[in-house]
Amino acid sequence: MYTLAFETSCDETSVAVLKNDTVLSNIILSQYFHSKYGGVVPEIASREHLKSIVEISEKALHDSKINLKEINLVAATSEPGLIGALLIGLNFAKSLAASMKLPFIPVNHIQAHIYSSFINKEKFDFPFISLIVSGGHTLLIQAEDFFRHKLLGTTVDDAAGEAFDKVAKMLGLGYPGGPLIDKYAKSGNPDFHKFPLAYIKDRKYDFSFSGIKTSVLYFLKSINYEPGKDEKLTADICASFQKAVVDSLYKKTLNAVKELNIKNISVSGGVSANSELKERFSGLRQNGYNIYIPELTYSTDNAGMVGITGYYKYINSEDKNIFTDLSFNMKAMPRINLHTI
Ligand code: KG4
Ligand code: ZN
Repeated sequence: MYTLAFETSCDETSVAVLKNDTVLSNIILSQYFHSKYGGVVPEIASREHLKSIVEISEKALHDSKINLKEINLVAATSEPGLIGALLIGLNFAKSLAASMKLPFIPVNHIQAHIYSSFINKEKFDFPFISLIVSGGHTLLIQAEDFFRHKLLGTTVDDAAGEAFDKVAKMLGLGYPGGPLIDKYAKSGNPDFHKFPLAYIKDRKYDFSFSGIKTSVLYFLKSINYEPGKDEKLTADICASFQKAVVDSLYKKTLNAVKELNIKNISVSGGVSANSELKERFSGLRQNGYNIYIPELTYSTDNAGMVGITGYYKYINSEDKNIFTDLSFNMKAMPRINLHTI
């Protein structure tokens, strides 16, 4: 079964072709120019998706060596995301499915991040605990079976990636901040300064990253920090900030797996590309845990993860006719709730 999948929920235009759960091609066009605005400008993102979606689709088909006529399923991200950006990929995909009389599968972007951890992996088992850390979301989920997900915790304010991006901006490093902080942290001292993380009473699996951002801001003011002046100081601040965020993500996930007695852990979303986060979780393999972290290409937004999720959704659905309904529309849903996962 061949799936053609689309992802346009934010600032990546991506198209993938899959054979069952194997990704044959996964083309990603990142709109790097948003960095000069310090963040994604929604209207510009939509226009860029529109400009490039045909070319990216042709390239994905070309690289997969699969003809459009051989495609059996069409999948696209339908929620959550920037409304105008979602519109482009979703309508393109729906039109294609309608014209070719193919099933169309709407895919939840968060679910796509969950299943991205299993791309190109031998096999995986349920139940698993899934930590999803991206620019817009921080979620801890218990997956009992395909699409039977229970929300254990989420962020009460900023997402983990958002904290990385905002702190990078304060340090004058640029956008997106995660990879830059990661790079600087490698040569920094993680014990240089202790940045505190908020403790949320009675909500043991929830996260909060807004306080640490403010604490970095006050610290920078207290030392009259000047961007670009002292590389060692920047590296030390990055390492200390990163340690605090990674600690919080790691400890809460570990508490969940211990308490629920689950041996499988998946970590996904853009922040799962972080070297320290990967190292901490990978270390758990020695303790008998199965750790699933996507390869770099599948950690940030990509259509491969939309394709694998669409495929799983299709093969696990008793009523395949539901995928002929093209009447629904996309949803922005900036904050996640139980219904959305
Ligand atoms: O999953 P993603 O591509 O988009 C959303 O769905 O939000 O995640 C993007 C986020 C950004 O906040 C970016 O700074 C962060 O992932 N990120 C990282 C790293 N690479 C990307 N954060 C920490 N360390 C990294 N190496
Ligand atoms: Zn994402």
